[in-house]
Amino acid sequence: MKEIRNINILAIESSCDETAAAVVHNGREVLSNVISSQIDLHKLYGGVVPEIASRKHIEKINQVIEEALKEAEVTLSDLDAVAVTYGPGLVGALLVGVAEAKAIAYAAGLPLVGVHHIEGHISANYIENPELEPPFLCLVASGGHTHLVCVKDYGKYEILGRTRDDAAGEAYDKVARAIGLGYPGGPKIDRIAREGNPDAVKFPKANIDGAKYDFSFSGLKSAVLNYINGCKMKGENFDPADIAASFQKAVVEVLVEKSMQAAEDYGMHKFAIAGGVASNTALRSAMEQACAMRGIQFYHPSPIYCTDNAAMIGAAGFYEYLAGTRHGWDLNAVPNLKLGER
Ligand code: KG4
Ligand code: ZN
Repeated sequence: MKEIRNINILAIESSCDETAAAVVHNGREVLSNVISSQIDLHKLYGGVVPEIASRKHIEKINQVIEEALKEAEVTLSDLDAVAVTYGPGLVGALLVGVAEAKAIAYAAGLPLVGVHHIEGHISANYIENPELEPPFLCLVASGGHTHLVCVKDYGKYEILGRTRDDAAGEAYDKVARAIGLGYPGGPKIDRIAREGNPDAVKFPKANIDGAKYDFSFSGLKSAVLNYINGCKMKGENFDPADIAASFQKAVVEVLVEKSMQAAEDYGMHKFAIAGGVASNTALRSAMEQACAMRGIQFYHPSPIYCTDNAAMIGAAGFYEYLAGTRHGWDLNAVPNLKLGER
């Protein structure tokens, strides 16, 4: 990649339940990364309530952006562009970020760059790995998505596989709720699984005929729920740690197997993980081991860059900016935006 001048991007992310803003320098250096999480509010309802998310974003967004600029020690005149997540996500939540980004860009005379949320998750890997360049393979596993993506070049993606039903994070959240751990379930299952026996219960791993890179987690989730109900009906006790560990083993095994199969089939020597589930400790160590065995270089973002944040949008926005992506004042939130669409 040719040397580029100093580009500062203000990035905004509001697609789900975090209101986030960041300033990123040349796509890889995070000058600030401010996240206001709404988790405590949504916890009361066991999941994200879209209407509450939108209202909270409106309340928080100005403050979060001001903090991001202050922490980065920049003003609007030091910026080169405003990047914003415009899909996929909750429409009301996305609209808050998009409207804010348009207002700032218009007022400051800056270009507006719309970013795909998943492209952001993938690009989180650039932040702490200055040497990472495409092509590489990336598993994106979050609360809303489970995608196996071939990153052919900056901004050029081929989706090799995806979930047919629940996302991996969604399965974590639903199982956690069933064993009484609350929302969000991923980090809680991660924690208690360390005390459990992963071989205590044998849960099924779904394979889909004719689509070897596709995933399915709803059968596994139902198997866990049925097991718990069965125990309750028989008046038997069950150990939540054993269930968490056994469920996690089934998820991790299937994610690793399919990812490694794709890496081998496509002759990939670099493999990255991204999204909230990428902060899972069991998944990380299993992937690390599987990659090492095959001589594949393994990349993963720090946990703070795995779950939703705006620094990752700044990283993705930078490469979109270099590629000439510019959006007009008619940019809208696109809740079901496809990866690679502009
Ligand atoms: O990427 P993210 O913040 O939001 C979406 O774009 O969906 O991902 C949130 C998801 C939630 O389902 C959460 O339970 C899961 O990531 N998650 C985890 C862990 N930390 C967050 N899942 C497993 N283990 C974790 N340590
Ligand atoms: Zn996300």
